[in-house]
Amino acid sequence: MTFTVLTLFPELLHAYFRASILGRAVERGLVDYKIVNIRDFAFDRHRTCDDAPYGGGAGMVMKPEPLGRALDSVDAKRRRTVYPTPAGRLFDQEYARRLASEGDLVLICGRYEGIDQRVVDLFVDDEVSIGDYVLSSGEIASMVVIDAVYRLLPGVIKEHSLSEESHESGLLEYPHYTRPEEFRGLRVPDVLLSGHHAKIQEWRREMSLERTRRFRPDLPADSGAEKD
Ligand code: 6GU
Repeated sequence: MTFTVLTLFPELLHAYFRASILGRAVERGLVDYKIVNIRDFAFDRHRTCDDAPYGGGAGMVMKPEPLGRALDSVDAKRRRTVYPTPAGRLFDQEYARRLASEGDLVLICGRYEGIDQRVVDLFVDDEVSIGDYVLSSGEIASMVVIDAVYRLLPGVIKEHSLSEESHESGLLEYPHYTRPEEFRGLRVPDVLLSGHHAKIQEWRREMSLERTRRFRPDLPADSGAEKD
């Protein structure tokens, strides 16, 4: 899959695509990316990309012409185009799965108050919010979307590692322990040392249910939890 990211701050994205598991997925050819500087498509003397909002009010709006030209340059009309915005619909694991299964993505990183609505009308397929808080940049939100999606692509992460994660089963994940058996007076739960696979599974499921009820009472911890 190719991620094409339109941004006023390309350097924020470059480092991210080179690091860690994503960097390895790029090296292995599982993920490709293209980072486009929107300012390269602003042709006035100051290469202006923002302007005051019609109707007045606080903040600035990203101008449609540079963004439109940048989108044309990557053939955005023929790809799925995602605009992360706090005014969008909530992005969740199911949304990530859908995006991972549907081909190349173009992401628009907004700054200021947002982008001109006509760019949304002409180019954008999905307006997604990553949660109920406000970030100052679309770059971080775009990285969140890319991260949730690329790790679901075939071959990036082993299938069985994904299936036990939080939100895949509808529950939060159980707690993890590694060596040593005792750390600052706290012991690893005996059941994990028992070698009894069925008991371990049962304990993990109990822990998942308990965590889900405690932290996320909005998730249906007692229904749909068996689906895998
Ligand atoms: Cl997608 N963008 C920004 N700037 N803030 C957010 C967000 C997105 N989702 C939640 N807050």
